[in-house]
Amino acid sequence: MSKEIVVSGIRSTGFLHLGNYFGAMKNYVQMQDEYNCYFFVADYHALTTHPDPKELKGNVYRVVAENLACGLDPEKVALYAQSDLPEIPELYLMLNMMAYKGELEKVPTFKDKVRQQPENVNAGLLTYPVLMSADIIIHKAVKVPVGKDQEQHIEMARNFVNRFNNRYGELFPEPYAFNFSNELVKVPSLDGNGKMSKSENVNATLYLADEDDVIRKKIKKAKTDSGPTEPNSEMPEYIKNIFLLMKLVSPQEVYDTYTNAYNDCTIRYGDMKKQLAEDMVNFIAPIREKAKDLQNNEDQLKKIMKEGAEKARASASKTIAEARKLMGINYY
Ligand code: TYM
Repeated sequence: MSKEIVVSGIRSTGFLHLGNYFGAMKNYVQMQDEYNCYFFVADYHALTTHPDPKELKGNVYRVVAENLACGLDPEKVALYAQSDLPEIPELYLMLNMMAYKGELEKVPTFKDKVRQQPENVNAGLLTYPVLMSADIIIHKAVKVPVGKDQEQHIEMARNFVNRFNNRYGELFPEPYAFNFSNELVKVPSLDGNGKMSKSENVNATLYLADEDDVIRKKIKKAKTDSGPTEPNSEMPEYIKNIFLLMKLVSPQEVYDTYTNAYNDCTIRYGDMKKQLAEDMVNFIAPIREKAKDLQNNEDQLKKIMKEGAEKARASASKTIAEARKLMGINYY
């Protein structure tokens, strides 16, 4: 039986963090043996915020290096830059004819961007979910490992798939967001406000490139209080977040010990944060060091990206030929 197809991407807009790891990359690594995987750096998507061309390249190489450092094997997956596949913008253009202004304007991530950068509400931002759909369906993917924040975009991809199939004939399967834990993940920021992010909440986000003392400092500053006064009381959101991070990186028995201490009101948050900081350092340091090594070997990164793009183009060019045929734009 042929393997199920998986696609996912990460924008090259900054340093990767714990949210990217647990929302996306951890799943990539777990999926690489069982699935036919296409993973890419979404460099076109990064253009919506007009990055400095001098910085973009380094960011792309770093995303590739960090993906490899987390355990992706370029022999098993296609790892490439989105802009190396001209079939993606072609399919994006086709899908744009089936995407409506009204539905695009309602997308929460678009509305957020309009609020954040009212001076740069460009058409690329509006059609962001259309390009994302093209990324996914160009390989006819059925599973898309992503964090919770991308769920709605994947739902839109299903809408576009159904519109295309109904109008031109069955070509694309419906893609679904995926996480091995059965629930999509949202890794919260350390200050209790929103999620970890590449560009916002920088001091409350743990990056895979953070040095040990930076990790310790950030965790030390995480918001706590004087502790519960009633046994088994409800946790405030910011305390829940610290427990969630502990669940992600600490051994189960450590997590259980602190949960019990919370429930019987003997918890000391200072100790808990120290423990979490050490477990976090143990988790991040090997990834950071490996990514550093890989970034020092740009030739190797380029080779991996080129080979990844070749594998990905073989699949993308087949799909685009089928789409053109169904749409009647095959003349010769
Ligand atoms: P991006 O670059 O913002 O994030 C990359 C991946 O990391 C996940 N993620 C998180 N997961 C949990 N907690 C967090 N705090 C957190 N922050 C980020 C994201 O959900 C994502 O899986 N639009 C996408 C990139 C993209 C894409 C695609 C993804 C372009 N085309 C096609 C899948 C399929 C984005 O901006 O991800």
